[in-house]
Amino acid sequence: MNYRHQFHAGNFADVLKHSVLLHLLRALQTKEKGLLYLDTHAGRGGYDLSAAASGTTLARKPEWPHGLGRLLGRSDLPPELASYLEAVQTFDRATGSKTPLAASIDEPPRFYPGSPWLAASHLRPQDRAILCERQPDEAAALTSEFAGRRRVSVQTMDGYTAVRATLPPPERRALVLIDPPFETADEWGSILGALEAGLARLPGGTFAVWYPLTTRARVDVFYRQLLAFRDLPPCYTVELLIGGEDAGLKLWGCGLLVINPPWGSARPLDTLARWLAPVLAQGPGATGGVHWLVPER
Ligand SMILES: C[S@@+](CC[C@H](N)C(=O)[O-])C[C@H]1O[C@@H](n2cnc3c(N)ncnc32)[C@H](O)[C@@H]1O
Repeated sequence: MNYRHQFHAGNFADVLKHSVLLHLLRALQTKEKGLLYLDTHAGRGGYDLSAAASGTTLARKPEWPHGLGRLLGRSDLPPELASYLEAVQTFDRATGSKTPLAASIDEPPRFYPGSPWLAASHLRPQDRAILCERQPDEAAALTSEFAGRRRVSVQTMDGYTAVRATLPPPERRALVLIDPPFETADEWGSILGALEAGLARLPGGTFAVWYPLTTRARVDVFYRQLLAFRDLPPCYTVELLIGGEDAGLKLWGCGLLVINPPWGSARPLDTLARWLAPVLAQGPGATGGVHWLVPER
């Protein structure tokens, strides 16, 4: 397993994933009852962007300037992106940046929060989080990031097993983020298996699955397999294409499948994805938006 999120932190895919995650969490928190946030593929919790350019053996081009970097200094951000950027800035300062996230790309940010930190920093007293990471070094960093934090439990384990092991939670409410590295051919099958098991255990749970757009065909097969589930609850996809399929990009976009989305979340996320498309475009054909697979009843 070679994947290290360090190299991708703050890229266009993180911007979409993390702004959508924050919106979903806040929308679920409009109900008073506590919830469980389960992060099946948590990573190390936070990232030093100044180290993102050095690969394990070769220097690498940092990806954040074409993601997070393009949002800095803009005064026209939709509300969901403004709160995401504010959360990033808070993390940067809290992590002790000497050069807090600046309003210009000429003054680069230093620290970037991963999904565990973004979610954990927005928990209410009645909420809790379980963060799973299988890679031992990443899990060790994650454990030290959250040492002493009540209501946050770090587990060094397979995230798909965690879905089966932790659902249903006593709260009977959950937001599950499934954000795998897609390094293995059977990743899509593992996701489908976890969703089937998760929905059987907690039919009303909210599941958000991040996926890359490298070949449209594979995603279409995934949707077809998902739509074959018996009693599939309402679900939509939020996709961001930074170029069309023919734009010559290896990763030309990404999306999140959201099952049991919070009521009313589709419209603001549609606005968010449409706004991001031209701003984060890297080739012709950039577009974004929400598409319902199973509409709200
Ligand atoms: C895309 S990164 C996660 C990024 C993180 N969710 C964020 O947004 O900040 C995927 C992570 O999953 C870990 N991983 C890979 N397979 C796993 C599995 N089966 N269970 C748990 N973690 C896994 C990798 O080590 C990697 O850290």
